Amino acid sequence: MENTDIYGGYLPVLENIKSTFEQRIIGYTDEEYKRSGVKIYEHLIARVKSPESMEEKCLRKGYPQNTHTALKIMRDSIGLRIVCSFIDDVYANIEKIKAFPDCRVVEEKDYIKHAKPNGYRSYHMILEYTAPQADCDGNDPGKYFVEIQLRTIAMDSWASLEHKMKYKKNVANQKLIVAELKRCADELASCDLAMATIRELIENS
Ligand code: GTP
Ligand code: MG
Repeated sequence: MENTDIYGGYLPVLENIKSTFEQRIIGYTDEEYKRSGVKIYEHLIARVKSPESMEEKCLRKGYPQNTHTALKIMRDSIGLRIVCSFIDDVYANIEKIKAFPDCRVVEEKDYIKHAKPNGYRSYHMILEYTAPQADCDGNDPGKYFVEIQLRTIAMDSWASLEHKMKYKKNVANQKLIVAELKRCADELASCDLAMATIRELIENS
């Protein structure tokens, strides 16, 4: 069969790299659990962006819909989300990820320390991974981008609700909804801080 989608035959490579990162994250988490009895993430989602969504994104951003754009200009064809119980765990995961072999951090956005104006909180990093497989530009070993988002359960629940709202354009009370969402985000952030204090109290008792 011909490779007619935007990934031009690289979909299996992307799936493979996605699994590599999933395994690495599960690997250090298991080690950490054996060592300290703490599970440093609550859950983990990994996905390759569907060819259709990638085509839509390239168009929306004004780029040609081709494999080079999908794999080299857009940097979220492979995405992982790590959801943690506590903010400290988020930063513990970041340290582990920064130590991954064959990886270079090419972008970091800390929306936990600097929340977006709408209240969104999360930590985003983009890694450039040197893979055993060749890439679409003829590099062998190839270079691939992987986006990792890390957040707490509270941040994650807010982001999913807010994401749902985005699809409901032109609703009445838009201003009020935005303000209320922001208020909820800030309240959840103060809960995360309170949770950290509770954890410390338990650990020190
Ligand atoms: P991209 O070109 O899509 O990467 O845009 P960007 O680099 O300007 O955005 P950023 O890397 O900050 O965020 C990209 C991803 O983070 C999105 O695809 C969402 O998954 C998530 N995200 C960012 N901002 C928000 C937000 O306000 N609400 C929600 N629910 N998710 C967000
Ligand atoms: Mg981005």
